[in-house]
Amino acid sequence: MKKILITGATAGIGRATAICLAKEGYHLAIAGRRQPKLKLLSQEIGDLTGQAPIMIQLDVREDLQVQSAIESLISQWKQIDVLINNAGLSLGLNPLHEGKMEDWDAMMNTNVRGLLSVTKAVANNMIGNYSGQIINISSIAGTQVYANGNVYCASKHAVDALTKAMRIDFLQYGIRVSSVSPGAVNTEFSTVRFKGDHERAQQVYDGYEPLQAKDIAASILHIIKSPPHVNINDIQIAPTAQANAYYLHKTTVV
Ligand SMILES: NC(=O)c1ccc[n+]([C@@H]2O[C@H](COP(=O)([O-])OP(=O)(O)OC[C@H]3O[C@@H](n4cnc5c(N)ncnc54)[C@H](OP(=O)(O)O)[C@@H]3O)[C@@H](O)[C@H]2O)c1
Repeated sequence: MKKILITGATAGIGRATAICLAKEGYHLAIAGRRQPKLKLLSQEIGDLTGQAPIMIQLDVREDLQVQSAIESLISQWKQIDVLINNAGLSLGLNPLHEGKMEDWDAMMNTNVRGLLSVTKAVANNMIGNYSGQIINISSIAGTQVYANGNVYCASKHAVDALTKAMRIDFLQYGIRVSSVSPGAVNTEFSTVRFKGDHERAQQVYDGYEPLQAKDIAASILHIIKSPPHVNINDIQIAPTAQANAYYLHKTTVV
C-alpha cells in the first residue's frame, strides 16, 4: 500500500483526509504543530484500522525541522509515494493598507515557503524512485482575488504557479503533480483567520451549506486512486451555493 505524508493533519481538510485514506488502508504520516491533536488523531485512526499513523510534530516554516523530519520518515519508510501539501492558513481580512506585516509573513512563510521546503525534502526521494505524487491544496483564491483577501490570495496564486512549475520540473521523473482548489469549507480556517472570534467565523458559513472537510478528502482520494498514466491537474470544488469567490447565495439574512 502507498505511503502518504499529509501536512496540516491536526484539523480540517488534513484531518478528514487522514481518516479517509486510513480507511482505504494507506500507510500514513500525519504532520502538524499541535502534538495533542496529532496524538488524538493517531489514536482514532489506530482504533479504526488497527494501524496507527506515524506522527510528525512539525512547523513547516522551520527548514531544519522539515529536513530532519523528512529524513527520519524516509529512513523508516524508504520511500514516500504521495505528499499532500495541505498545511496553510489565512490571517486577517483587511484592505492592504490596514494589513499586519506579521500576518503576511505567517501566510507567505506557511502557504508558500513551507510548502516549498517540504516539497524539496520529499521530491529528492521521489526523484530517486522515478515515481511519486504531489497534491497541493490550493484554493479558488489561487486563481481569483476577492476583496480584502490580498495576501492570502497572493499566497494561493503562488501555490497555483508552483504546482504548474513542479509539473514541468518533475516531468522527466514520472512524478505526478495535482492541486485541489476548494471554495468555502467549514473547518477551523475562519476561526484562525479571525484569530479566535468564533462568532465572526461562524457567519462565514451561515445561510448556505458549505463544503465539509470530507468532501475535499473524497477529491484527494480520487486523485490518488487515478491510474498511473493519468494526472489530474486540478480539481476545483465549491459549495452549490457558491458560484465563485465573489458570488455566494445566502438564503437567510445574517
Ligand atoms: N477552509 C476553507 O474554506 C479553505 C478553502 C480553500 C483552501 N483551503 C486550504 O486548505 C488547507 C487546509 O485548511 P483547513 O480549511 O483544513 O484549515 P484548518 O482547519 O485551520 O487546518 C489547517 C491545518 O494546517 C496546519 N498548519 C497551519 N500552519 C502550520 C504550520 N506552520 N506548520 C504546520 N502545519 C500548519 C494546522 O495545524 P497546526 O495548527 O496543528 O500546525 C492545521 O492542521 C489550507 O492550505 C487552506 O489554505 C481552505
